[in-house]
Amino acid sequence: MCGIVGYVGSGSASKILMDGLRKLEYRGYDSAGLAVLEGTDLQVRRSAGKISSLEKVLSEDPIDGSMGVGHTRWATHGRPNEENAHPHRDCTGKLVLVHNGIIENYRDLRDELLAKGHKMASETDTEVIAHLVEENYTQDLAEAVREALKKISGVYALVVLHSDEPGKLIIARSGPPLVVGIGSGEMFVASDIPAVLHHTRRFIYLNEGEIGVVTSETATFTDLEGKAREAEEVNITWDPIMAEKGGYKHFMLKEIHEQPEAIADTIRGRFFEDEGDVQLDDLELPDSLIQDLDRCVIVACGTSWHAGLVGQFLMENLAGIPTSVEYGSEFRYRNPVLNDRTLAIAISQSGETADTLAAVRECNEKGASVVCICNVVGSMITRESSGVIYTHAGPEIGVASTKAFTTQLACLVLLSIFIGRKRGVLTSDRSRELLDHLFALPHQIEEILGLEKEIEELAGRFYRYSNFLYLGRGVHYPIALEGALKLKEISYIHAEGYPAGEMKHGPIALIDENMPVVFLAPRNSVYEKVLANIEEVKARGGMVIAVSDHEDPILAEQADAVIKIPRTDPYLSPILTTLPMQLFAYHVAVLKGTDVDQPRNLAKSVTVE
Ligand code: AGP
Repeated sequence: MCGIVGYVGSGSASKILMDGLRKLEYRGYDSAGLAVLEGTDLQVRRSAGKISSLEKVLSEDPIDGSMGVGHTRWATHGRPNEENAHPHRDCTGKLVLVHNGIIENYRDLRDELLAKGHKMASETDTEVIAHLVEENYTQDLAEAVREALKKISGVYALVVLHSDEPGKLIIARSGPPLVVGIGSGEMFVASDIPAVLHHTRRFIYLNEGEIGVVTSETATFTDLEGKAREAEEVNITWDPIMAEKGGYKHFMLKEIHEQPEAIADTIRGRFFEDEGDVQLDDLELPDSLIQDLDRCVIVACGTSWHAGLVGQFLMENLAGIPTSVEYGSEFRYRNPVLNDRTLAIAISQSGETADTLAAVRECNEKGASVVCICNVVGSMITRESSGVIYTHAGPEIGVASTKAFTTQLACLVLLSIFIGRKRGVLTSDRSRELLDHLFALPHQIEEILGLEKEIEELAGRFYRYSNFLYLGRGVHYPIALEGALKLKEISYIHAEGYPAGEMKHGPIALIDENMPVVFLAPRNSVYEKVLANIEEVKARGGMVIAVSDHEDPILAEQADAVIKIPRTDPYLSPILTTLPMQLFAYHVAVLKGTDVDQPRNLAKSVTVE
């Protein structure tokens, strides 16, 4: 949940680390710090709050050196103050360490270390690791880290350095991600690629359970037993400015506007237009297995879970497979029944969400075939799945997921067509029809983005309300949930998503003149029923904002505002109705003056359970 960056070379470590931390701030922003080797001394600067506070500390008290580590923290153990900020030191002050994750047995370890005379300066679980490494240190830092890790239970990504072994960073991982960026006479370490992408495109992923020794010229990797691994280099093609704001006020707005291109990238090269067939190169699902499938289980969290709910409609209607959708955080606690005829689909933007990863492991252990829909190449979930469909959305920095969600939906359409065709459920005519609608989406999304001014004005009318209800039916019920989640996570306004038909079973009691209700009302088989729900709200004095693809005088008369979007196939319509949800939440949040890209209490990748 925190962001880590490391550097060893001949450049200015402070500058490189601070640049990296700024790009990782989305991972946590409770406190920040860095340590740089200045001569033979490890100099540490830390500060509570955001990176900007650390910048101030550094400008008053700079450090000059060419190797070091930096950290931006999302607090798990210990308050978000300066004492608990990373890097943490051992008793000698010669060793510093940064950590992302949670050490579960830290209390026992802390007691043991205190009994041996170690002095702790923070309330964190992390500091315990520094003292544990110190305890095992005999002029071989890698070996000391290896020994310390054998005593630790929990999850971690670590970077350690020791002033007696200059020019060497020791890195380790069990859970949260860590990558090594290869430069010329310099090396970088980071929690995520955009942190150092402006320095290099050549990366090596640190594998689960590995330790790495990184110098300015080399990076070597071993497991906890010391067995070496041949490093596999990956070339990252993202443009570094793709990872920057590109002229937009917030990453979230930039990412909303990137959706036409992101959807186009998702579908590019993945179909045979004449036959109406889809090809998914990395899926690795043998035809015999597809024929034998008797059910599908989708596992995900948050926004990705909402994509899964849409996926359920797609898999059942286009591929004819009974499908359930499960929260990653709940799945493994109820002994789910799975077998070798089950297809598990994990959906995750980051590929590092701990709960979704745990669900993937449960599926693997129980013999299901696991594939994932993911945005981050080489991430943990992709590596523990036998097949993958990459969303190709490019880096998503805003904590609120936008382009990752709509590209997940596009992937689910592709997967459902792929399986539906293989199982003979979907005719080539119907498949071609769906694909034609899919190709038209980028242009239709552009059209909706053209409504931004209108949606911004609407936000101006409604941003002072304290509660919102979002209602939709069928395939648009998940979009009601997603619209409500977007609003609450970035504007801190209470919002609930509900199936429109459930309103009369309770939520209708909430309706009065202070309760705006957002309706997803495209013209489909349940349109008339949604219209009836709108009338029920109006009859009780509620205010209605409707999103529809239909020119309907009754709707225009009933609703206080109608956002008119283009028409597409009913199964693709959620991709379009999502856009006004995102823009509305964004502009409400801007008017409320919240921190849109880094809303309070949240982090982009939730790598702890
Ligand atoms: C969405 O806006 C949220 N930030 C959050 O719900 C997110 O979708 C969830 O944490 C899952 O993340 P993942 O897709 O990276 O697994």
